[in-house]
Amino acid sequence: MLMTYDDVLDAATVQRFREALAGAEWIDGATTAGSLSRAVKRNQQLDDRSPTAIRLGNDILRRLGAHPGFLSAALPERIHPPKFNRYAGGGRYGVHVDGAIMRIAEANLTLRSDLSATLFLTDPGDYDGGELRIETPFGAQAVKLPAGSMVLYPSSSLHEVTPVTRGERVCAFFWIQSMVRDEAARALLHDLDRSIQSLSARSTPDDHDIVALTGVYHNLLRRWASV
Ligand code: NI
Repeated sequence: MLMTYDDVLDAATVQRFREALAGAEWIDGATTAGSLSRAVKRNQQLDDRSPTAIRLGNDILRRLGAHPGFLSAALPERIHPPKFNRYAGGGRYGVHVDGAIMRIAEANLTLRSDLSATLFLTDPGDYDGGELRIETPFGAQAVKLPAGSMVLYPSSSLHEVTPVTRGERVCAFFWIQSMVRDEAARALLHDLDRSIQSLSARSTPDDHDIVALTGVYHNLLRRWASV
């Protein structure tokens, strides 16, 4: 399942992020790639320990923590601190799959990547290329979203970033370990939650069927979640 959210950062916040990132120190992205993906990765990244990366990353995490759509879809147990990358001058990241297990050194934690997220910080009109192409069971999907929008996709997917041939493409990206590891189970819970929300909006608060369905949601979550 591939989900997009168009309201993660508002325009003023994107502008603030872009200004902070323009003045930050960027390093060769290949230094952080695994041995297989190093050969296909040509971009720049912010040092994870830089004050700018930490400050902006925390800002993103705070907003996601209050984003009902994201929380319902991802059911996050643990989120990797957001990283920042920049592609320009033909920069690309060839087809690869993200590592399954990530180390969060600062927090002395390990994370299983169930979901990958890319938050776009550059408007699509400001660069050519730079599509995030994700392999799905229904074929490859090319994702290029407005600044402030985010895509969420299964970390098990093969994906690539096509060459940026004009301008520059700046994004934040990170991984999520979900409380519900099984993707199909997580998708069912998300569908059920959305239907309950939609029914609730046009019913009375004491509607017995909605209370019962909410019970079903929580009892499924109790069966399927690991916390
Ligand atoms: Ni990747």
